[in-house]
Amino acid sequence: MSPVPASDFGFSNEWMKDRVAIVTGGANGIGYVIAERLARDGAKLALGDVDETALGQAAARLEEISGHPVPTAAGDLAEEAHATALIAAAQGAFGRIDILVNNAGGGVISPFLEHTPETLKTTIDRNLWTAIWCCRAVLPVMIDQGYGRIVNIGADSVRNGLWDHAAYNAAKGGMHGLTTGLAREFADRGVTVNTVAPCATRTPQLDDYIEKSPDVAQKFIDIIPTGRPAEMAEIASMVSYLASAEAAFVTGQVISVNGGSTML
Ligand SMILES: NC(=O)c1ccc[n+]([C@@H]2O[C@H](COP(=O)([O-])OP(=O)(O)OC[C@H]3O[C@@H](n4cnc5c(N)ncnc54)[C@H](O)[C@@H]3O)[C@@H](O)[C@H]2O)c1
Repeated sequence: MSPVPASDFGFSNEWMKDRVAIVTGGANGIGYVIAERLARDGAKLALGDVDETALGQAAARLEEISGHPVPTAAGDLAEEAHATALIAAAQGAFGRIDILVNNAGGGVISPFLEHTPETLKTTIDRNLWTAIWCCRAVLPVMIDQGYGRIVNIGADSVRNGLWDHAAYNAAKGGMHGLTTGLAREFADRGVTVNTVAPCATRTPQLDDYIEKSPDVAQKFIDIIPTGRPAEMAEIASMVSYLASAEAAFVTGQVISVNGGSTML
């Protein structure tokens, strides 16, 4: 049984009511759980994802939860045109955008020398270019409003140099750098930019990985002092705080949700 049922986090975040939130990669995994958390907090949602089938299913579930339409944009967000289309879909539907969660990503986890040029490029595209294009498209909207919350999903592995994560960490480290730079640039425009950096998190993909490479997966879990991976709801809880109006004085931070695997 999960040590932290998602329902335990089901309280309402009053700071979120009627805010408009975009979650990239919101069709599956952590992204879907973040979207559901924000919907339960009272936000209106828009989703972008390359997985069109799962995107439609996720949007339908979120419409039921939030009671609002959930506009979607299907496509590879590492291409500028798809990122622009996602921001336009949310803006068109709701007339404003308060929150962007750059969650799209995922590793091609492999020893560095076993990567191919294609897997290296995919790793950077998925985890860094998606965030760059979405930030570029959303920032003019947030600046006009004088209000915005950008929350990136980075990775705690950047801090501890986890086995087989060099290429992935290059991309996520880029995202951590994007966070501090944008935070400073737009701090006086009402826009905060932060990153949540998870350690190994219990997703269906992690379960698959544990099955395929149990020894390596066990090493990932052994470095977590609490002795278990994060639950997706625990990542979503930190995102909910950083995405809220309440977090106005927190910007340029990379906050690990990691069971103590790195400290400070
Ligand atoms: N699961 C973990 O242990 C873990 C740990 C640290 C960080 N993260 C990060 O958390 C985020 C979510 O991970 P997850 O485990 O839920 O992965 P996931 O694969 O279950 O979900 C990622 C989602 O992003 C979408 N996506 C990927 N590339 C895309 C692109 N170019 N354009 C549009 N959509 C795209 C996928 O279709 C999918 O729906 C990722 O950024 C990942 O790097 C995960």
